[in-house]
Amino acid sequence: MARKIVAGNWKMNLLPDEGYQLIEDLSNFCEGNKLDNVEVVVSPPFIHLAKAAEMTAHSKLTISAQNCSDQLSGAYTGEVSVEMLKAAGVNWTLIGHSERREYYGDTDEFVNGKLKRTIEAEMTPVLCVGEVLEDRKAGKQEEVVASQLKGALAGFSADEVKNMVIAYEPVWAIGTGETASPEQAQEVHAFIRKYLTQTYSAEVANAVSILYGGSVKPENAKEIFGQPDVDGGLIGGASLKYEQFVKLIEIGQ
Ligand code: G3H
Repeated sequence: MARKIVAGNWKMNLLPDEGYQLIEDLSNFCEGNKLDNVEVVVSPPFIHLAKAAEMTAHSKLTISAQNCSDQLSGAYTGEVSVEMLKAAGVNWTLIGHSERREYYGDTDEFVNGKLKRTIEAEMTPVLCVGEVLEDRKAGKQEEVVASQLKGALAGFSADEVKNMVIAYEPVWAIGTGETASPEQAQEVHAFIRKYLTQTYSAEVANAVSILYGGSVKPENAKEIFGQPDVDGGLIGGASLKYEQFVKLIEIGQ
């Protein structure tokens, strides 16, 4: 896996035909361009995943889910298991996005369970962490991020953590148009890298991609992606538009 990653999170947007068209266009873009140094990932809603994975089976575009169950199978209405994702050809998933944490009760413990299922299934999880505005105003961003990392990563070995991707998404910058400054992003990314070094090893810290998310657009991506500890982005709104997303891929590679 390349350390540089540009990932799109469609959230609950795009109807099937719109989504498949975007997948086809992005897949063609990835094929037509030498993108050896960057992994391009898109996370459509569950219902589009199987077809999206089939469409991209031989393409450089990687399809990711936005969530998975912390359970293997059984009476869990509305949930989707990692085995189901794998059977559909999906090998990546976001875990612990702030919208899941805020609206659907994804606690650190829950996130830890979901991460366990993905690692057992040999999938690549993108673990999302980030502080809310109140914590940022109180200067508690590192404390919050450290606590989320500690909870989410409890029980994992260094080798397992090495296969994860981490996305730092300050909640106050998601969908608000307000981006963290490049310095603010770098500061927390460097903190996460240091946390991984101290908790696991320099090798783990060096292997893990740390993505920034929160109102990333072509206009601000160059400076953010240019920071030494920022390995790319997890993009919401701008990943829904082909022109904007390919610009972000070009900047991120
Ligand atoms: O997962 C993506 C993030 O929530 C960022 O969303 O780019 O729309 O702010 P945004």
